[in-house]
Amino acid sequence: MSIEQDVILRLNDVKVHFKMDEGLLKAVDGVSFEIKKGKTLGIVGESGCGKSVTSNAIFNILPKYGLLGGEILLYEKDRKRLERPIDIVKLNPTGPEIRSIRGGNIAMIFQEPMKAFSPIHTVGNQIIEAIQLHVEPDAKKARDIAISMLRSVGIANPEQRVDEYPHQLSGGMRQRAMIAMALSCNPSILIADEPTTALDVTVQAQVLELINNLKRDFGTSIIFITHDLGVIAEMSDDVAVMYLGKIMEYCTVDELFYRPLHPYTQALLKSIPTPGKTRKGRFESIAGTVPYPMNLPEGCGFFSRCDYAAEGVCDQSGTDMVEAYPGHFVRCTRHEVLDAPGQGGNA
Ligand SMILES: Nc1ncnc2c1ncn2[C@@H]1O[C@H](COP(=O)(O)OP(=O)(O)O)[C@@H](O)[C@H]1O
Ligand SMILES: [Mg+2]
Repeated sequence: MSIEQDVILRLNDVKVHFKMDEGLLKAVDGVSFEIKKGKTLGIVGESGCGKSVTSNAIFNILPKYGLLGGEILLYEKDRKRLERPIDIVKLNPTGPEIRSIRGGNIAMIFQEPMKAFSPIHTVGNQIIEAIQLHVEPDAKKARDIAISMLRSVGIANPEQRVDEYPHQLSGGMRQRAMIAMALSCNPSILIADEPTTALDVTVQAQVLELINNLKRDFGTSIIFITHDLGVIAEMSDDVAVMYLGKIMEYCTVDELFYRPLHPYTQALLKSIPTPGKTRKGRFESIAGTVPYPMNLPEGCGFFSRCDYAAEGVCDQSGTDMVEAYPGHFVRCTRHEVLDAPGQGGNA
């Protein structure tokens, strides 16, 4: 793949391995993808697949015992194209360069909003501080921006809420306030890590709309992380399906739904609840759970749960990504067999 002008962030063979007492935990094991300007990359996979560790690596907030390899190349800073990309992997996690990138150039919405806010400062002061650091040094103007951001994420009485502490807000409100903080600095990349998992359906729809507006109005690039393929369909241009620290399938969202090639993707698709149908209907969850990524056997990570696994093949050696169709990559030795008419879950 050539590095095109519209690529804003690129991961090359990123590995995050945690050194634990019992061995090496391979949370992320050779992930490569790229984010284009003004586009959304969806990352989907069950819990424990390495989605959050990947986004934390981009934000450079991994714990010290997490070993990081590969490259995370940032091609734009302060909305300007860089002559030479910055490799985030090489930056000191507490140094000034990553601190100016965090919040200003790359913003993050966490699944758990308490992670983003300090309990001892008001919500408003934390948002205002970020705005002053990145976009508007004037305190009064920064406060006005903070209030209007809180209003735009659907918080009533933002003039009053701005002076409240995180614990005074409900969970849904805190989530919105965190989103307001992430958006207030007009980031060129927004990482949204399961931003709506804890929210009810109505608020969830509002938050998704808010994120899509940001992309439309400011050309923000988005990494949208979820375990829900239904949400992926609504949000993404490109999709990476992750399993056990690796990308199993990578293509446009249309390709993924039209022609899912990996048995894991097919299983995820079958597990999308269909409106009006109960669990007894089409909804099936994938049998078994994601293995713990420590001291794993050779072969495909999905082997133990795969309906189409071939013994002596899939459990023998790791599989490389292949480009099965133009721009459609899959990591499965059996994809040609499964792609044939009448085979697999692809009919
Ligand atoms: N700080 C950490 N130390 C050790 N292991 C971790 C740490 N963070 C995550 N893990 C492990 O890495 C794997 C991937 O986790 P994570 O990225 O949080 O998954 P996901 O976000 O896809 O649910 C899991 O097996 C998890 O237990
Ligand atoms: Mg996660």
